[in-house]
Amino acid sequence: MSVHAELQQTIDDMIDAERGILAADESTGTMTKRLKAIGVDSTEENRRWYRSMLLSTPDIGKYICGVIFYEETLSQQDNKGTPLPELAASQGIIPGIKVDKGKGPLPGAPGDMITYGLDGLGERLVRYRKQGARFAKWREVYPITPHNPTALGLTANAEMLARYAAVCQATGIVPIVEPEVLIDGDHSIARAAEVNEQVWHAVFHALHQHGVILEHMILKPSMVTPGKDAKKATPDEVAEMTLRILRRKVPAAIPSINFLSGGQTPEEATANLNALNQHGKKAPWHLSMSYGRALQEPAMKAWSGDVHNRDQAQQALLKRARLNSRARRGEYTADQE
Ligand code: 13P
Repeated sequence: MSVHAELQQTIDDMIDAERGILAADESTGTMTKRLKAIGVDSTEENRRWYRSMLLSTPDIGKYICGVIFYEETLSQQDNKGTPLPELAASQGIIPGIKVDKGKGPLPGAPGDMITYGLDGLGERLVRYRKQGARFAKWREVYPITPHNPTALGLTANAEMLARYAAVCQATGIVPIVEPEVLIDGDHSIARAAEVNEQVWHAVFHALHQHGVILEHMILKPSMVTPGKDAKKATPDEVAEMTLRILRRKVPAAIPSINFLSGGQTPEEATANLNALNQHGKKAPWHLSMSYGRALQEPAMKAWSGDVHNRDQAQQALLKRARLNSRARRGEYTADQE
């Protein structure tokens, strides 16, 4: 199969009107924080057990089309010895891999960040592909302050995303391009809209310059919301503002927009996705999710490190995945909780 045909096949296998992506790609540092919050030690065995439990949830493939792994998970196996990417594939879930190597300060742009990991990316992707990964994810992070993101922050981060995406596509891997505008702070929804507009403009400019094929990538943006220390916006306000800015800046050739949850509660993330689909019925893109915390939080709490809680944890994941699938059709209501 040609690289183009392969990319198209992955897009076709991943995108439909019902399902979304499970982001289970927490780095060991982040996973350690999440596990600590439920009183569980972050051992390799606990991480393996938890993630294989998620993926073996009966019927989860009805609502989840893809899973993003962290590098460690790609070579782990379930209790029966099945490699986790194979376990995902057996549920109809396409395995993917987070390939950035975390972030640090961007020199010359006080307050802005930049992500590492381009060196050797091509070789790593070849290896991940052999292990079953068909798509990848790379995240750039943009804090909002009165001075951030700076002009340099906008161009430097966009450049990283575009270079990463171009390397992925050359290797037959579909890139998820994730410019995450953080919700930290007390900024207004108007300020978040202004920043997201600048970010998406810079990202699509860079993607164009690097010849990235828009039909063969997925955008994973933040929703446009006020900062977490400001008064909350309603789902209708979030949907209207997010769609207004997306329509200005995101080409119709993008097949799917899979939002991150970024610190929203599971219920908020589902209600917002629902409103986006209600308001965006005529939008040119699929409007879906690629949630980490908003899908996993209830399952993680139900598990709490006790193997006897396996069924309850799987039911908690299945419930959130199902409600988000309803939200994809704009048919979610709070009484379904
Ligand atoms: P959250 O949905 O928890 O923000 O995680 C998504 C993700 O992949 C962040 O990089």
